[in-house]
Amino acid sequence: RQSDHVRIVEVGPRDGLQNEKQTIPLNTKIELCERLVGTGLKTVEAGSFVAPKWVPQMDNSNNILEHVLQTPPSASHDVSYQWLLPNQKGLDRFLATCEAFSQSFGAMASYPTPPPSPSPTNDQGPSLNTSTQDPNAMPSSTRGLPSTSPNSSTFSFPPNTSHEISLFCAATESFSHRNTNCSIAESLSRFRPLITTAKSHGLKARAYISVALGCPFEGPDAPSPTTVADIATSLLEMGADEISVADTTGMGTAPRTEALLKALSAAGVRTEDLALHFHDTYGMALVNALVSLNHGVRVFDAAVGGLGGCPFSPGATGNVATEEMVYFMESLGLRTGVDLGEVARIGEWISGELGRDYRVGSRVGKAKLSR
Ligand code: HMG
Ligand code: MG
Repeated sequence: RQSDHVRIVEVGPRDGLQNEKQTIPLNTKIELCERLVGTGLKTVEAGSFVAPKWVPQMDNSNNILEHVLQTPPSASHDVSYQWLLPNQKGLDRFLATCEAFSQSFGAMASYPTPPPSPSPTNDQGPSLNTSTQDPNAMPSSTRGLPSTSPNSSTFSFPPNTSHEISLFCAATESFSHRNTNCSIAESLSRFRPLITTAKSHGLKARAYISVALGCPFEGPDAPSPTTVADIATSLLEMGADEISVADTTGMGTAPRTEALLKALSAAGVRTEDLALHFHDTYGMALVNALVSLNHGVRVFDAAVGGLGGCPFSPGATGNVATEEMVYFMESLGLRTGVDLGEVARIGEWISGELGRDYRVGSRVGKAKLSR
């Protein structure tokens, strides 16, 4: 039987904010990350190290990284922060900040132990313990390493925290050029040394494949599932720890999602190596999440308040809302460990900060708050 745990990767602080035109204060971004971690979310994509002239909103991601490198998380559970980057320059900037602000192992003893946060009521049921795969567990390859391996070349982070890089490439040439100014092959060739370097520092590497279920320039039937599967196998062969298959445009349908998952399986990609990243432009994200669940996938990306969108994908709207994802998973008897009421309060707050209508961003969140 499949695990009854689902890990939700919160991409709101990165995907959710990157396309906002107004300047969002650094303190708001930091508060967003801290509050999200306090809901029980264990993986938060907190920023990106991309070219500022392409995505100015993410320019101060290094300040967010500085903050989390120096501050124990507002939760007693393990937290992994993800940082999106496309190239060597992005990795160099990320590592320079880690180098400058990660603590020495000895200094870590002086961090106060954060008080245990109350367990969300929805995470108290006994685990069925029917699978060896627990997507909420930190992958053994790197998580927790910095605090337990003082003699390795890894950084030392505050207790219970780890960091991972998120690389991104595309499954169509048009989108690859638009988003990263290079071909698919060029972008993949950049990744191998980035993954090798990240791992030498004890960091995990995730990789996104954008436009896997429809391309804004080549249409809803591009790319072919086998193209996506070929890219996924290349990324895994390079050492990527997790592949996030992204429906950037929200064009994905249930049959297309099923065909893609079958092609990935046929190519030897294991479901435990997969996450699914749905934008909800056409309202199909949860339908496609159900198809993915039935296929065995247990990791899903989502953004609080349904924020988000890629600046280089015209017409595409936000990510599936974290509120919708948590409510949906738990309606199926699956466990997320996330406090839905608290996520809704954060969703209402950040939507207000951005001048967005929360009733549009998350119907679940709005309903939860009005009860
Ligand atoms: P380029 O212009 O070809 O790069 O952009 P370049 O190497 O020629 O550099 C141009 C300038 O950018 C130079 O500065 C570089 O130093 C600088 P200048 O000398 O002109 O002053 N530069 C950088 N600066 C800071 N950090 C860096 C960096 N790299 C270059 N890392 C590049 C190529 C890939 C950099 C550019 O296309 C880029 O940054 N693209 C990022 C686009 C982006 O962030 N898109 C949104 C995120 S992806 C997404 O949302 C999809 C996802 O959610 C999944 C899904 O839904 O599909 C993940
Ligand atoms: Mg996205």
